Amino acid sequence: MINKKRLWKTKEGHNTENKMEEVKKEAIPEHIAIIMDGNGRWARKRAMPRIAGHHEGMKTVRKITRLANKLGVKALTLYAFSTENWKRPKLEVDFLMKLPEEFLGTFLPELIEENVRVEMMGDRDQIPAHTLSAVEKAMEATKENDGLVLNFALNYGSRSEILEAIKAIIRDEKDGIIKQDDLNEELLSAYLMTKHLKDPDLLIRTSGEIRLSNFMLWQLAYTEFWFTDVLWPDFDEGHLLEAIDVYQKRSRRFGGLT
Ligand code: FPP
Repeated sequence: MINKKRLWKTKEGHNTENKMEEVKKEAIPEHIAIIMDGNGRWARKRAMPRIAGHHEGMKTVRKITRLANKLGVKALTLYAFSTENWKRPKLEVDFLMKLPEEFLGTFLPELIEENVRVEMMGDRDQIPAHTLSAVEKAMEATKENDGLVLNFALNYGSRSEILEAIKAIIRDEKDGIIKQDDLNEELLSAYLMTKHLKDPDLLIRTSGEIRLSNFMLWQLAYTEFWFTDVLWPDFDEGHLLEAIDVYQKRSRRFGGLT
């Protein structure tokens, strides 16, 4: 007889098919959000420049996107660049801003083929034109796809997102588009960059850091969190399946009782 527990513990992608079949028997999280952390440490451990870690992290993005799509996850939001990441050395920032182009330049045909819809959330004003144009081209090319939504958080910060929503609400109230009495949680959510997405069911953060770093503060109110010490470039299909397995064993009560 196959010892399932052992199979689940097998490392680095082995028995992924078995794990997939197991998790598919239970509810798959509809929206998974990931803080992809640890690229720099991955590179340092190998005496490589930090950007090599980001490049390797890009390969993980592809792996995880494919599996999420196969599992029937509806949305995958990836924290690719925060509003605070501009503080990093210019060389690193420039490299990070080239990654979406490289990723989409290489994988767009595959994403189209796999019915993935590319989206982005974040403040577009500071994003270099070449980065934005690559992302917008991919958004346009995949806009009819109705499989997984691959949502890149690029120059994204949750506090600024909420602040902008409040400003827009005040403007719309002044213009008579909405009334103060109409304002509730649902309406505020409709002013956020995620207005068309369900709140995440599962948040994953890699690399052992246990914090949110200004990521989706409103949307994560009732999300299940899963933290791992694994560095993002080392994160593989087995780890995602493990996170989903843990999620499936949690009891979500949303403040109520079971
Ligand atoms: C945090 O790790 C990671 C980032 C700031 C960038 C994340 C970007 C990617 C994984 C690539 C994205 C790919 C596409 C296609 C957009 P860190 O640099 O803070 O790591 P450290 O804490 O170990 O230094």
